[in-house]
Amino acid sequence: MSRKKVLGDYQTPVPLVRNVVSRLFADGRTWERVLEPTCGQGNFIRVCIEQTMGVREIIGLEIQQGYVEKSKRIYSETTKISIFKQDIFDIDFATSLHWNSLSPLLIVGNPPWITNSEQGRLSGKNLPRKSNFQRLSGLGAMTGKSNFDIAEAVWIKLIQDFVRDHVTIALLCKTSVARKVAQFVLDRELPVNSMSLYRIDAQRWFNVAVDAGLFVLELNQGEVSYDVDEYDNLLDARPTRTFGFYDRHIVADLDSYRQVAHLEGTSQFTWRQGVKHDAAKVMELTYRDGVLRNGYGDHVDIESDYLYPLIKSSDVKSISSSFVPRRRVIVTQKKVGQQTAHLRDYAPKLWRYLNFYADKLDSRKSSIYKNAPRFSMFGIGNYSFQPYKVVVSGFYLPARFAAISGYQSRPILTDDTCYFLSFDEEWKAHLLCALLNHPAVSKFLASITFSDSKRPITKGVLERINLQAVFEQINIDQFRNCTADSHVELIDPNRQQDDDSQLLLF
Ligand SMILES: C[S@@+](CC[C@H](N)C(=O)[O-])C[C@H]1O[C@@H](n2cnc3c(N)ncnc32)[C@H](O)[C@@H]1O
Repeated sequence: MSRKKVLGDYQTPVPLVRNVVSRLFADGRTWERVLEPTCGQGNFIRVCIEQTMGVREIIGLEIQQGYVEKSKRIYSETTKISIFKQDIFDIDFATSLHWNSLSPLLIVGNPPWITNSEQGRLSGKNLPRKSNFQRLSGLGAMTGKSNFDIAEAVWIKLIQDFVRDHVTIALLCKTSVARKVAQFVLDRELPVNSMSLYRIDAQRWFNVAVDAGLFVLELNQGEVSYDVDEYDNLLDARPTRTFGFYDRHIVADLDSYRQVAHLEGTSQFTWRQGVKHDAAKVMELTYRDGVLRNGYGDHVDIESDYLYPLIKSSDVKSISSSFVPRRRVIVTQKKVGQQTAHLRDYAPKLWRYLNFYADKLDSRKSSIYKNAPRFSMFGIGNYSFQPYKVVVSGFYLPARFAAISGYQSRPILTDDTCYFLSFDEEWKAHLLCALLNHPAVSKFLASITFSDSKRPITKGVLERINLQAVFEQINIDQFRNCTADSHVELIDPNRQQDDDSQLLLF
């Protein structure tokens, strides 16, 4: 089972292969040469032969001998088929394949979808070799440092090895991989002239809940363009939207982005991510039956000075003036890197608690905890303790911003799935929340974010909002309207401020 996963050994169902091949060879388009880089049992090769005209040579590569044997059984009178047992990370495509002609080449198939960290868990080693890996310059940067999809590595290797050729690369992959590949070719200004992404129903075909599609990229076939036409279905005639880049920033919908591009800029305020501790069961507590319990169900009794009300993404989504935070988070430091040993004397109950769960806290995997003081947390600083915040969840679109103040005289903290601006003055939070909920900002955010991303709203996305430009766009009447329908509730100045039972939401 784990070998199957490591090799991404999920053969593409023939009906899907038929649709892919129909799409590629639509309107009489054809290629004399076809390369299937991870051909498995040869479904793409078989369908290319059955369903198309004009293909003269096909080379198939595959790492598993059993599939190599199966693919070798495919026969054609008119097409020369060569199948080799080959690890694609061990071959230089530019020099090692021997073709009869140099006519246009189609590379088609479905490389493994697994990520390198999933592989790590399965002790798999299906990765680019070190030497190759270094040649794949920028892969780390491109793929979010240490974690990347094996399919990304396959894409980049193919693009780099074939960068001088007249070639079309068409591979089934996750939509997130397609976006990273598009960013990669843009960053290196490679001679790409067309990119298209045709969505497929991965749940139906592969029984996996991911967004995926056929990503088609053409090299050296005309004027350079880094726009990606996105189709909702493989056989759709017209794209539903085009994503691409504007000033090197990725944009999900270029048409709607153009209408709000003036809001692109640099944030005048510093966006922060909420508190990170990687030990929710120990550090996050919930009131149940009147007592605080941790994620193990244990009753927790610690010094209240180290407890703060906590809200998470699911709270921000539906926050209202009657919301009462039920969660608390234990805060061991006032700023990142602060020593924690003094807690032994200042907060003996907390110290005992942390030591009781030390095995959980000491075994947190992320490298950030390695040389940090014991029981450290991150995303903590003066900004965490400012009383007024504008918060947003990283998970949900459309983005909804909420202004919050403290609860029971304590500043409310968010977890690391949320982002926030923080203030000492109440009016600033009012103003910023209203600006951020303005329809122009919603449109801007919708145009630059991808709804199928795991976390569409990030610090990087929020930092692109030029709030000064939003402010300038709004005349005072619009501003009033926006306040009225932006989920912002103003604090009633006559309201009793000692009413601790209510979250002060404004
Ligand atoms: C998702 S399957 C697709 C197979 C075939 N392309 C199809 O669409 O039916 C991925 C294939 O890649 C092969 N594979 C995985 N890693 C490989 C590598 N490093 N080199 C060559 N083939 C590999 C697997 O054995 C598997 O057959």
